[in-house]
Amino acid sequence: MKILITGSSGMLGTDLVDLLKASLDPNLEVIEAPHEALDITLEDNVSVFISSHTPDIIVNCAAYTNVDKCETEREAAFNVNALGPKYIAAAAKKCGARLIQISTDFVFDGNGNSPYTEEDQTNPLSEYGRTKLEGERNIQNHSDSYLIVRTSWLFGHNGVNFPAKMLELAEHNKELSIVTDEIGSPTYTPDLAKALWTLIKQGSEGIINVSNDGYCSRYELAEYIFEAMCYKIKINPLKSSEYKRPAKVPLNSTLNCQRLNTITGEQMRPWKEAVEAYLNKQKSHN
Ligand SMILES: NC(=O)c1ccc[n+]([C@@H]2O[C@H](COP(=O)([O-])OP(=O)(O)OC[C@H]3O[C@@H](n4cnc5c(N)ncnc54)[C@H](OP(=O)(O)O)[C@@H]3O)[C@@H](O)[C@H]2O)c1
Repeated sequence: MKILITGSSGMLGTDLVDLLKASLDPNLEVIEAPHEALDITLEDNVSVFISSHTPDIIVNCAAYTNVDKCETEREAAFNVNALGPKYIAAAAKKCGARLIQISTDFVFDGNGNSPYTEEDQTNPLSEYGRTKLEGERNIQNHSDSYLIVRTSWLFGHNGVNFPAKMLELAEHNKELSIVTDEIGSPTYTPDLAKALWTLIKQGSEGIINVSNDGYCSRYELAEYIFEAMCYKIKINPLKSSEYKRPAKVPLNSTLNCQRLNTITGEQMRPWKEAVEAYLNKQKSHN
């Protein structure tokens, strides 16, 4: 099986490449396509790159992920998050490859009181969410065979993320203000990579939510990290309405992962265990 990964040097892309390579499966060939090797906004380049490698599976981990910058860099965000997936879908169709697209909880408005299922009504609040939803639609309209994986609040060892920011802020601050009314399921990218591999092997199609089990507020996540690290930081509760940022984000970002659990026969580990694994690995690097 030949698997081509776009955006392969991003936070998720790196962990997925590492996981697949670690399997040492002689029947598995991993083709890495980092941004510098393939810009997914260039239609002809996408077509030539994909047809020359003839992959069986393409996992699109490339995206414009700076949510606030998407508000001002609208064209760039649209090109990467909406047009890129369309070009990849068309090239995948030509060579008969199945396309796995990574999408986001930000396709929802977060006004619901319970975790979002795959069928719930989308209504993005931000340019990031709107462009990612357009990417989903392009894939649905231009692919013969696809899987869209919606995930949330990613953290890992190779990119910008909330736990990494908390560790950085803890180095220079004794007191921080963190939002209490934004709720989500933190998801560890090595765990997401494992779930993706399982879904790929099972030939899953359609839309599937994937996140670590359980949910928390940004405040609770920060509190858990500082406690686990034995950092004495005073955290002041802050309402999201008091935290001014360019993009509007959903207050309820939780995803219902029942479909994933049924398909794979197992549940992702709880977010607290995933955060512990992350912190232990970070400590061992320092
Ligand atoms: N991070 C989250 O909290 C979160 C939550 C839910 C869903 N997701 C989704 O999960 C996926 C992986 O996210 P991530 O956190 O791993 O993102 P990331 O670390 O920002 O990685 C994205 C990768 O895409 C590359 N890229 C950007 N523009 C490109 C282009 N025009 N052509 C090719 N590659 C390009 C980036 O390269 P450069 O660095 O060189 O630009 C980077 O390597 C994305 O689809 C994202 O929307 C993320």
